[in-house]
Order: sequence, then C-alpha cells, then structure tokens
Amino acid sequence: MLLKDKVAIITGGAKGMGEATGKKFAEEGATVIIADLDFDSAQMAVEQIQSSGGRARAYNRVDVTDSATIKATVNQTIAEFGKVDILVNCAGGTFGSNGSSENINMNDWDRTINLNLNGTLYPIMEVLPYMKEQKSGKIVNFSSMGAFNAYTVVLHYHAAKGAVESLTHNLAFELAPQGIHVNVISPGPIMTPFWDELMPQGPERDQFTAALAKKEVPLQRMGTPEDIAGVCLFLSTGLSDYVTGQKINVGGGMGNIISHNSTFLSSEENGKVNK
Ligand SMILES: NC(=O)c1ccc[n+]([C@@H]2O[C@H](COP(=O)([O-])OP(=O)(O)OC[C@H]3O[C@@H](n4cnc5c(N)ncnc54)[C@H](O)[C@@H]3O)[C@@H](O)[C@H]2O)c1
Repeated sequence: MLLKDKVAIITGGAKGMGEATGKKFAEEGATVIIADLDFDSAQMAVEQIQSSGGRARAYNRVDVTDSATIKATVNQTIAEFGKVDILVNCAGGTFGSNGSSENINMNDWDRTINLNLNGTLYPIMEVLPYMKEQKSGKIVNFSSMGAFNAYTVVLHYHAAKGAVESLTHNLAFELAPQGIHVNVISPGPIMTPFWDELMPQGPERDQFTAALAKKEVPLQRMGTPEDIAGVCLFLSTGLSDYVTGQKINVGGGMGNIISHNSTFLSSEENGKVNK
C-alpha cells in the first residue's frame, strides 16, 4: 500500500489517464477525489472504485477554469478528510484541432490556453495553503510530447503545454524548501477518449494510430492510460521523495530516443550529410 492514508485530488479523473490514475491510487490505499467537468462520469468512476473496495468521492461538477468550482471540492475534501496530500492535474485538451499559423482561431487559442495553463494553476492555488501548512505535498502536471517535439503543428495546445512545463519548474523551485514536490508527465500517444475530439472511432482511426505507433514510437505501440498511471503513482509516493521539478516522458521511448522507423536521423539523406 504505497498511498495508505493519503488523500488525492485528480482533475480530469472521470476518464482516460485521470480515471486510470484514480483506480491505481485507490488500489494503493489512497482516498481519491475526482474533480471533473463531466459530473455523471465522475460519479461512475467513483462507483467503480468503491465497488472494488476503494474510497472515492466526487463532490461537485468541477471546471478547472473556474476557481470557485475547484474551491468547493477542496473545501469539501478538507471538511471530510482534513488534508490534501496529492494533486494530479490531468484535465486538459484542445479546442479546434487545426492549429497552424494560417488556421489558428483566436477563440480556440484563448480557450485552449485557459483550459491547459490556467486550469493547471487554479487547482494548485487552491491546494497550496493546505500543503504548505502540512509542509508536504505532491503535485503532478500534464504536458504533451508535442510541446517540445512537434510532430504535428497544434500551436495553441503545444504552447499551453510548454507553459505548463515552465510553470512546473518554477513552482518546484519555489516550493522545494516547503517539502512540496512538483513534477510533470509528458505523455506520448495514449489511447483515451481524448482522441474522440481528433477523429471518430473506427477502422480509419485504428489504421492511423497503428501507423503512428509503428513510425514514431520506439516501442511501436500506442500507450494505455495504465502506462501513465504507473508513472503518476511513482511521482505521488515516497519512492520519488528526491525528485522535483522534473519532466518524465512517457511515450514508449519518444522524446529521448529516435524510433527505428523514424524520419530524418536514420534516413539515407542524413547518412549523406554525415559523409
Ligand atoms: N491522450 C493523449 O494521447 C495525450 C497526449 C499528450 C498529452 N495528453 C494530456 O494528458 C492529459 C490527460 O489526457 P486524457 O487523454 O486522459 O484526456 P481525456 O480527454 O480522455 O480525459 C480528460 C478528462 O478531463 C475532463 N475535463 C475536460 N475539461 C475539463 C475542465 N475544464 N475541468 C475539469 N475537467 C475537465 C474531461 O471531462 C475528461 O474526463 C490531458 O492534459 C491531455 O492534454 C494526452
């Protein structure tokens, strides 16, 4: 039981990586608070955890871009359990997938920055007073591989995620003397409902993701939400007590090593350049 007696708030915990992380945390003994815009799905995630013998709550519909809704959940958590040990900022996504410089729509830009950047900061601001008082805390934020390795151009989303990484590093520096750890996970392509916004489910999507995995992912498969939950668990337990301000790429090898089938470095053209 790596998280016995710990209390964790997970934004975006109703689906995808947040949902898998909640289940994993509950298996390890944590009380899991799901803070999600989709309150029905949040309640379903809570019921699933409870039916497996875990402890979970979803107090209200939380919009991470609206501080008042986060405050309500944090207040309820403190009232019922007296503390918050862990905050996982999973809520994120993009509005309008075509974000090239020619097509970017400023409304999509504002909403995407608001969701990913402000929506990471606001929950942090609400839990910090309690973490500072107890002189401990673990915060895990979510970036995207594309923030610094853009395989596709999605300006607003990638810029927001780049800023989340910067926010992580600055907060880690500021909060380290107070025993509060802040790290960031940069996922590669992970099969979650996130993809529903980008393309409909079906054979075309299966073909696309299979080709993407083969070409770009050194381990040659798409990731699962559980792949992320394991790393999130590490960053939320005492196993990572000497780790703060770090980014962990969780993308089947993407980020640091080049895929065997990938583009430029392994190509003949590059061989010619090197000769
Ligand atoms: N899936 C991927 O391939 C991928 C890759 C890189 C980064 N990411 C990032 O990882 C994180 C998790 O992604 P996922 O794939 O699990 O996403 P998902 O779309 O499967 O789930 C996101 C959850 O966040 C909730 N949510 C959305 N807006 C919200 C808001 N304003 N307030 C509260 N909750 C809100 C949704 O209801 C949903 O339950 C996100 O930050 C995403 O940007 C995902």
